[in-house]
This record gives sequence, structure tokens and C-alpha cells, in this order.
Amino acid sequence: MSDQTYVLILRLLHIVFGTFWAGSVFFFTFFLIPTLKASGPEGGKFMQNLGRSGYPIAAMVSAIITIVAGFLLIWKLSDGFQPMWFHSWYSRTLTIGAGMAFIAFIIGFTINRPAAARINKIGQDVARQGGPPTPEQQDELMILRKRIFSASKWIAALVGIAVIGMSIFRYVQ
Ligand code: HEM
Repeated sequence: MSDQTYVLILRLLHIVFGTFWAGSVFFFTFFLIPTLKASGPEGGKFMQNLGRSGYPIAAMVSAIITIVAGFLLIWKLSDGFQPMWFHSWYSRTLTIGAGMAFIAFIIGFTINRPAAARINKIGQDVARQGGPPTPEQQDELMILRKRIFSASKWIAALVGIAVIGMSIFRYVQ
């Protein structure tokens, strides 16, 4: 495979999956969360169903593909991480953006993913018990929802910085 084809495939994967990841993060944080908050108990049910849909996996896989392809592109551009390459503002802007996206992924993976899995588990327990959730389950669900909501704000801010970095790095000297 020629170098040009290799970079073309990486860019295609990086930009297609990066767009999906960033777009879904912004949609979730700025539109879905306020709608869920306004929906009361119905919102809780919707969130459980969303957790069971393909969305959490799709977002995680897209983030991984974006990061791996981005990492391989940096490797290529910097000729195997040559330190000299990192001395320009061009590369600094790019790597700061990349770093922010990576931190966003870590937050999603370590906070949102286990919280969503726990919400799912409680949902299954409630279905097995029959009837509404117990007050303890209700309290735990509220705590988990709040955790996801506040972590998502940080994720959106970091992904926002990454998108800005990716948009401008080429024009920064
Ligand atoms: C929210 C996540 C991200 C989005 C939406 C995104 C989007 C983009 C876009 C649209 C470009 C094309 C810019 C241009 O050609 O002028 C780009 C380039 C690039 N991105 Fe990202 N990116 C993200 C995260 C990352 C991460 C995590 C890394 C590294 C681990 C990374 C590394 C790169 C590199 C090296 C390029 C330059 C590719 C080249 O010149 O061939 N990006 N990114």
C-alpha cells in the first residue's frame, strides 16, 4: 500500500468517526440532557432504554477508532515521534487538541460507562422485582444520572477544544 493510500484511509476513518463521536457528544450534552431533566420519571426510563441501545457502544467504538487513527497520523507526520516535530505551534495545537480528546475518552470510559452499566443493572432488578423502584434504588439512580450529566459537560468541553484544535492547527505557525 502506498503512503498516500495509507494516510487517506487513516484520515477517512479519523474524520468520519471523529465527526460522529463529537456530534453525538454535543447532541447528548446540550439537547438530550436538558430534555431528560425536564421529563421527570419518564426521562429515567428513556435513559435506561438509551443505555440498552447501541449508542454507548457506537460512541465508544467511534472514539477508539478516532484516537487510534489520529495517533497513527501523528506517528506518520512526526516521522515516528521525532522530538523536533513537536516544536512548532502547528504540532502543539494539534497535540493539545488530541490530548483533550483523549482525556474526554478516559472520562467517558471510567465514569459514564460504569454508571450507565449500573443504571442498566438496576433497571433489570426493578423489572425482576415488579412494581416501581425502591427508595434506595431511586436514590442510586438519581446519583448515577447526576454523575453522567456532570461528566458529560466536561467531555463536551474537552471534545470542543479538540475540534477547535483540529480546525485551526494547519493555520498556526
Ligand atoms: C473529537 C475528536 C476529533 C475530531 C472531531 C477530529 C477531527 C479532525 C479533522 C476534521 C481533521 C482534519 C483537519 C485538516 O486536515 O485540516 C483532523 C486531523 C488530524 N487529527 Fe483529529 N480529530 C479528533 C481527535 C484527534 C485525536 C484524539 C488525535 C490523536 C490521537 C487526532 C490527530 C489528528 C491528526 C494527526 C490530524 C492531521 C492529519 C493529517 O494532516 O493528515 N485527532 N482531525
